[in-house]
Amino acid sequence: MIIDTHSHIFKEYYKNVDEVINKMKNNIIIVCGTNYNNNKEVIKLCNKYNNVYGTLGFHPNELEDFEYEHLKIIEENINNPKIVGIGEIGLDYHWNDNNKDFQKEIFEKQLDLAKKYKKTVVIHSRDAFEDTYNILSSNKYRNLKVILHCYSYDLEKAQKFINLGIMLGISGIVTFTSAKQLREVVKKIDLKHLLIETDSPYLAPVPFRGKKNEPLYVKLIAQKIAEIKNISVEDVYLATTSNAIHKFDLKIDL
Ligand code: NI
Repeated sequence: MIIDTHSHIFKEYYKNVDEVINKMKNNIIIVCGTNYNNNKEVIKLCNKYNNVYGTLGFHPNELEDFEYEHLKIIEENINNPKIVGIGEIGLDYHWNDNNKDFQKEIFEKQLDLAKKYKKTVVIHSRDAFEDTYNILSSNKYRNLKVILHCYSYDLEKAQKFINLGIMLGISGIVTFTSAKQLREVVKKIDLKHLLIETDSPYLAPVPFRGKKNEPLYVKLIAQKIAEIKNISVEDVYLATTSNAIHKFDLKIDL
């Protein structure tokens, strides 16, 4: 069994969402919300498909239409057994660095919910290492179960995060020619700290780079990790699947 631990399989990106999900039969897809409307889609997909689990959250790049009221959707659905985390949440100073305080406020509000309901958090962090690390290593949040999705910082930072018990999501970027730094991270960091994810529809791995990504391509990411670590792809599946089951506390029902 394979688990794509991070995807955005929404109607706005795919003509036929059902077809994309059916290709992952007997495997698991975790769909992550980023705004009010697609959080509602996450809930629908979770209720419709046995093999789809979801996380609800408000992404730092999608705060223009955010209203505090919207956070209620998280609490209202937190007891749905298919909702296994809070995300995608975080900090992104690459696309927007003039609303840092607002980003931090909304990020922390969602971390508070994760703490209250003991849920795993799925974090996006871009050009924001310092604030992300300071928040996650604070006494208030250091016991949270955390996944840093689409890991893209260097090895030294990876070691700091894994020392906090944080798991790193490895995306299709690892297959890009330019991604030397990420391959170094994958080589040096033990498999027990890694997850595999597509971030579909974005970041399709080679040889589909630039095309629309889909959860099935998570296999290409596993293959690349196997190649870098010089182990079998089965070992990558075994370890990363078990990591995901534990980190999200998944009750598998296929
Ligand atoms: Ni994402």
